[in-house]
Amino acid sequence: MANVVVIGAQWGDEGKGKVTDLLSRSADMVVRYQGGVNAGHTIVVDGRVLKLHLIPSGILYPYTICLIGPGTVIDPKVMLGELDMLLANKIDISGLQLASSAHVTMPYHRLLDSAMEKRRGDRRIGTTGRGIGPTYADKSQRSGIRVIDLLDEQRLRDRLEEPLKEKNKLLQTIYGIEPLDEESVVHEYLEYGQRLSKHVVDCVQVIHKAAKSRKNILFEGAQGTLLDLDHGTYPYVTSSNPVSGGACIGAGVGPTLIDRVIGVAKAYCTRVGKGPFPTELSGNLNDQLTKRGGEFGTTTGRRRRCGWFDGVIGRYAVQVNGLDCLAITKLDVLDELDEIQVCVAYELDGERVEYFPSSSDDLARCKPIFETMKGWQCSIKKCRKLEDLPKAAMNYLYFLADLMEVPIAIVSLGASRDQTIVVEDPIHGPKRALLST
Ligand code: GDP
Ligand code: IMO
Ligand code: MG
Repeated sequence: MANVVVIGAQWGDEGKGKVTDLLSRSADMVVRYQGGVNAGHTIVVDGRVLKLHLIPSGILYPYTICLIGPGTVIDPKVMLGELDMLLANKIDISGLQLASSAHVTMPYHRLLDSAMEKRRGDRRIGTTGRGIGPTYADKSQRSGIRVIDLLDEQRLRDRLEEPLKEKNKLLQTIYGIEPLDEESVVHEYLEYGQRLSKHVVDCVQVIHKAAKSRKNILFEGAQGTLLDLDHGTYPYVTSSNPVSGGACIGAGVGPTLIDRVIGVAKAYCTRVGKGPFPTELSGNLNDQLTKRGGEFGTTTGRRRRCGWFDGVIGRYAVQVNGLDCLAITKLDVLDELDEIQVCVAYELDGERVEYFPSSSDDLARCKPIFETMKGWQCSIKKCRKLEDLPKAAMNYLYFLADLMEVPIAIVSLGASRDQTIVVEDPIHGPKRALLST
């Protein structure tokens, strides 16, 4: 038995959905532990494309329990839409469970998210506009609405009365937005509660019962390390903790329950939204990566910014997540390039630095120091074993593993399940026998 955390090692969209789906084959339970419908995970199975925002990527396996944990924030309207989409695709959702203590994104959270962004002007964060920051802010202020509150009319009224009065005042006076009508909010959200009620559970009890029966639990991170509220490029971050430690808090387990941590990183780098991005490209190369990688956001459709692989943030991700191994995705996107650059360190105010600066202002002044690798200039999409890869692609992978000082267990060469090389079983294989020099 092994309990595993899968996290994004960059700025999100690393391909966590694909990797989680792949690893879910040997999981009994998959748990989302943070974030909300800001996430967008695309899974391709047998040519069918599924886009998930909140439902764990393990949902495609009929016997897997999928839990949306206490550390998440849920938008019931979006969640119900996702459930309908899964049902329309004939996917069994009976194993889906939702933590009664997860917080709920309310209509005022979405309005405030967009209004605050507009007001920030040039200093906007570039949020997904899904109300994530305001929902987590209310949670911290202890004025949030939780899933359990949607199951009882009186409790919902009691919990909503004061926050709604305050939010309406804020919406009207600061942002010039029409106030929300309490009755219609109550009715709308009670109806959501009714539809979701059969999935609602005491999540911590469910997880610990599974752990006691030695089930395999996979904790699925959303977003990525550099978007972490505490460890990312603040303030250009999301409002939760996507790092592996977030799994303990967001699911209600101790660190001793976790056996392995797997980091997912693209063979290059992307970012959506604003904030420093030292290896960012412009011009033709940027366009080429965007086009070949299909780099448009799953949630907002925004074009993702593209850049070279950044070994400094990679090493940082290894540290703050305690990574055991890596899954490198989208290697095929680099197929046509004659040369590939990899950032090995930064230059900050004339000095070489090899660590990730904690200040976003410092990071914005960092210039990448690159090493140039030879490209392979042929299609690798059909490779299924390491030996099938061209030498230049192998060299690139070895270089990344050495730079990050962590072995590579999985290489992904396309969006579908079969377009994958499993170098060594990342869950049950020996910890250090994976691809590294
Ligand atoms: P997530 O948020 O980390 O789950 O990643 P997204 O799903 O938002 O973005 C990754 C995108 O790349 C999706 O459209 C995937 O279908 C696709 N993808 C995943 N792995 C690969 C790969 O190895 N090669 C290619 N070409 N596409 C991939
Ligand atoms: P997945 O799970 C990429 C980014 C937004 C913005 C910042 C804050 O698909 O990897 P928020 O709406 O969370 O307050 O926005 O975080 N962001 C993501 N970027 N992938 C995601 O999720 C993201 N979720 C949020 O673009 O910069
Ligand atoms: Mg995504």
